[in-house]
Amino acid sequence: MTDKTDTVDIITGHRRMRRNRKADWSRRMVQENRLTVDDLIWPIFVVPGTNIVEPIDAMPGVNRMSVDKAVEAAKLAADLGIPALATFPNVDISLRDDTGSNSLAANNLINETTRAIKKAVPNIGVITDVALDPFTSHGHDGILRDGEIVNDETVAQIAKAAILQADAGADIIAPSDMMDGRVGAIRRALDAAGHQNVGIMAYATKFASAFYGPYREAIGTSGLLKGDKKTYYIDPANGTEAMRDAALDVEEGADMLMVKPGLPYLDICWRVKESFGLPVFAYQVSGEYSQIKAAAANGWIDGERVMLETLLAFKRAGCDGILSYFAVDVARILSKR
Ligand code: PBG
Repeated sequence: MTDKTDTVDIITGHRRMRRNRKADWSRRMVQENRLTVDDLIWPIFVVPGTNIVEPIDAMPGVNRMSVDKAVEAAKLAADLGIPALATFPNVDISLRDDTGSNSLAANNLINETTRAIKKAVPNIGVITDVALDPFTSHGHDGILRDGEIVNDETVAQIAKAAILQADAGADIIAPSDMMDGRVGAIRRALDAAGHQNVGIMAYATKFASAFYGPYREAIGTSGLLKGDKKTYYIDPANGTEAMRDAALDVEEGADMLMVKPGLPYLDICWRVKESFGLPVFAYQVSGEYSQIKAAAANGWIDGERVMLETLLAFKRAGCDGILSYFAVDVARILSKR
């Protein structure tokens, strides 16, 4: 009983977890989750003009692109096997107003982008957001009236914007605004306009998060936004409330659900997947991306390994896919394996 082996045997008995971990082949054999290119959705930023590829300071490696360059990016993504893009416009400041009226222009930047991508690269999915923040002079996701983001009027407007986005060729409408009742309103509007096959990916649980900072630089709302979005996004403290919100989106006709931000909310990913059985996507948001980039640039972490580990964590938490600014980098790495 004094021998070391005996001591270990008393503790572990016949259970030795390390047997399956002993070699590369056995680790591959027992690996439960895998990241593939089919799991990736690539969010891109679009600006007016032509031949523009403009770096975003707070998101090293991510650019704002004019429509022609976005089309090239879409081709690249399709060639790499990335299933879909999510597009976000940086609208000319002169077009932004209190109500976000440019969201109702059939040929606005987001719709122009969709048309151009769908024409040149018909086989890539295009996911568009109907939130008003790229179009409002105050950077909020809805119409601002007497200091309040008015719900029902905003919903009526984004339902109209959704029809225009579908007319332009959007495959999936993804409302990120968190107004009450918007998923049902968008579904009814799309159906009435003959867009039965256009889906809805609900930003089912979108939290009032500080991780969106770099995105606001990307679409030019950081200098505009007055106050915060706490009257419409979910309190980061609340998991049960997030589940209630997601349940409403399911009832209202969402085809897919999204959890946003991603990594700090893996518990929500898991609960949403377990509860509803719908496809669940996590949005690894700008701040999550930039943290990894910054630490890697300082040599404090291995950026590539951390990137892959975070994306795999989403799979383990039950996600069917991830919106990630790393999509192209990851697709390139996966294609070499
Ligand atoms: C707003 C919107 C946000 C993001 C996408 N659309 C959040 C915000 O600005 O409040 C964040 C995306 C990211 O951080 O990567 N409708």
